[in-house]
Amino acid sequence: MKKVLVIYYSQSGQQLSILQSLIKPLITLGHQIHIERIEPVEKYPFPWSAYTFFNAFPETFNQKPLALKRLSEKAFEPYDLVIVGYQPWFLTPSRPISAFLQSDDAKRILKDKPVVTILGCRNMWLGAQEKVKQKLLDVQARLIGHIALADRSGNITSLITILRWMLTGNKEAFLFFPAAGVAHQDIEHASKFGECIGDALQTGDFDSLQSKLNQNGAIEVKPSLILLEKRGQKGFAFWSKFISSGGALHSTGRKIRVYAFLYVLLPAIFVLSPLLWVMSSILRLAKQKQLLEEVNYYRQNSLR
Ligand SMILES: Cc1cc2nc3c(=O)[nH]c(=O)nc-3n(C[C@H](O)[C@H](O)[C@H](O)COP(=O)(O)O)c2cc1C
Repeated sequence: MKKVLVIYYSQSGQQLSILQSLIKPLITLGHQIHIERIEPVEKYPFPWSAYTFFNAFPETFNQKPLALKRLSEKAFEPYDLVIVGYQPWFLTPSRPISAFLQSDDAKRILKDKPVVTILGCRNMWLGAQEKVKQKLLDVQARLIGHIALADRSGNITSLITILRWMLTGNKEAFLFFPAAGVAHQDIEHASKFGECIGDALQTGDFDSLQSKLNQNGAIEVKPSLILLEKRGQKGFAFWSKFISSGGALHSTGRKIRVYAFLYVLLPAIFVLSPLLWVMSSILRLAKQKQLLEEVNYYRQNSLR
């Protein structure tokens, strides 16, 4: 019997459902699981107002730490494996998760530990996971597996449905749009990944875990989204500096810049995503090898 710590953050409960499905086989195998929720001292609202949502961007993107509630004593017991459940916010790990990963608690909990990361997102998680890889290296943890669950709708469709969900709390299908978020079947399927983790815990073979997870569909990478994310990371680096230099958190200068960001970002995604889809289709033909290398890079756990 092994001891597994599951540490996570979730606003709507989606991430918790994913984790509950993931750990089902581990519970059946008799492993001892402790689930620990990360909670900021000052809670983020859910649903969000449009302004609070976009106002959270600069500090999230710059991975500025924030105060978290104390973890329970149980979180500091010795574990054989730690599972970190998170979600990307603005192409970056959500701020509560990035605050945790930078904390002294993370050093105590994660140092020298094998870690599996699992995320539930709209569809843009590549850069966030790169930042998580770096933070795990900083605390000397060993990333042995990663699982990415995304909304399978098209980029524009999921943008509309997830924004509606985040801003109203309503994730159900409407008009001709599907329900927002990770599909129920994909959440159920997470238990397959739990079986792979169970095997790895039993045999002690963590080295082949990622390839087994991948065989079960743990990481699917769309080439068009690699390009969109790269553009996004560059654009966000500019906009986060621009908004931060607008003044204090509630100043008028900052407010104006946050609204400017909102009104530029959304049309930019609508214009850029079909454009980059066409570009990636051309690139896929012209630079097949390079793009394939990129896809393969994001399906493994080292950091370049
Ligand atoms: C402020 C904010 C920013 C987000 N940015 C992204 C993003 O960059 N990429 C993405 O795929 N999903 C993004 N999402 C969606 C989340 O990753 C996640 O799927 C959603 O918030 C539900 O997670 P939870 O309820 O378990 O916390 C964002 C959500 C929020 C609230």
